[in-house]
Amino acid sequence: MRVIAIDGPAGSGKTSVARAVADRLGMEYLDTGAMYRAVTFAVLRAGGDPADNRFSANVARAIDLRVEQDRVFVDGVDATVEIRGRSVNRAVSLVAANPDVRSEMVARQREWVRRCGGGVLEGRDIGTVVFPDAAVKVYLTADPAVRALRRARQDGLADAPNPPDGGPEAAGVDAVAADLARRDMIDSTRRTGPLAVAPEALVLDTTDKTFDETIEQILELV
Ligand code: DC
Repeated sequence: MRVIAIDGPAGSGKTSVARAVADRLGMEYLDTGAMYRAVTFAVLRAGGDPADNRFSANVARAIDLRVEQDRVFVDGVDATVEIRGRSVNRAVSLVAANPDVRSEMVARQREWVRRCGGGVLEGRDIGTVVFPDAAVKVYLTADPAVRALRRARQDGLADAPNPPDGGPEAAGVDAVAADLARRDMIDSTRRTGPLAVAPEALVLDTTDKTFDETIEQILELV
């Protein structure tokens, strides 16, 4: 089964790159970050505390989760917009650091690959933990300021005000940068499946690369 693993920090361009690579190769695509976001959404919706590991683990095991190309359904409810919202952004790294949540999601990701007969998966631990034997491993990264700007544009926040003291209502590029830095820190220092470069991964810094250059480099490797 052919697996292409695309890992990297938030805002490194994984989603658009992984989708394009999957398209070009006629393969299925899975956004594993959307799965951790969906669990976080379900925990918050149930009134749970994302820091309560037992509660989150039970939610992760129980939910009916459907991650489709453009939509995410949690227990039959379309949560596509909510999983990208602020409350999920704030809590997702905490939920994703929970080892029991991770083992459940990793099992579901492996099952997805079995069902599809392979695929392109994007995440943080795909090449290191989920599919250490993946045919191709890519680690995408970019300068933090560039990542923040891309993410802010994607979320329509690039022109929002940046109050000088930050604060909970801050929404501009600076706030996005702070949120990315906070999540990267938690994601790369957790004990289970931390964000890390797999030994055989091709590290691609996309700061000064065009989208097409990045895609071509990955296809060449494939
Ligand atoms: O890629 P993203 O920003 O949508 O991911 C959301 C969160 O999920 C991120 O903070 C890290 C976590 N995540 C993870 O721990 N493992 C993955 N394979 C994918 C995402």
